[in-house]
Amino acid sequence: MSEKTPLVGILMGSDNDYEIMAESARVLKQFDIPFEMIVSSAHRTPERTAKYVSEARDRGIRVLIAGAGAAAHLAGVVAAETTLPVLAVPIDATSLQGLDALLAMVQMPAGIPVATMAIGPAGARNAGIFAAQILGTADADMADRLRTFKQDMAAGVVKKSDKVQQKLAADGLA
Ligand code: RP5
Repeated sequence: MSEKTPLVGILMGSDNDYEIMAESARVLKQFDIPFEMIVSSAHRTPERTAKYVSEARDRGIRVLIAGAGAAAHLAGVVAAETTLPVLAVPIDATSLQGLDALLAMVQMPAGIPVATMAIGPAGARNAGIFAAQILGTADADMADRLRTFKQDMAAGVVKKSDKVQQKLAADGLA
C-alpha cells in the first residue's frame, strides 16, 4: 500500500485472489503509481463494495481494477456505482478454469462497460499497464515511462531472437 494518495483502487472478491491480483500491484509499483488493494465481494459484502466504489473518485482514485472468479459480478457491480473506468480481471477459481468469470465480465450489457482483460496473471498484469495508460493520457511523465517500458520490452525480444540464433548455431542447425 502506498503512502501517497492512491490513484488506482484494486478490488478482489476474496483473499484467495491475491496471488493473481498482486501482478497488477507489481506493475503499478514499477510505474510508481500509488494504489490501494482491498478485498470486497459483490455477493458477500455488497454494501462494502458500493460504499468503497461510490467514494473512490472523491478520494482521488482515477481507475478501478476488479479481479474475481466464479460468477464474477464484481466488475459490473463496481461499474454500476461509478463513472471511473473499470478494468476487469477474470480469475481461475473454479472447475471452469476462469471461463465462467471471463464470460460474466466480458458480456456486460450495453450501458455499463468494463474493460475485460485475459484470465489470470497476464490479465492482472495488463490491467496494471492499462491503468498506467489511462493515467498517461493526462500525464506526460507517465506516457514517457510507458514509452520506455515498451522500448525495453522490444529490446528484450531482440535479445531473445539473438539467443535463438546462438542455439541454432550450437545445435548445428544454422
Ligand atoms: C469470488 O469467488 C472470488 O473472487 C473468488 O475468486 C471466488 C471464490 O472465493 P472464495 O470462496 O475462494 O473466497 O467471489
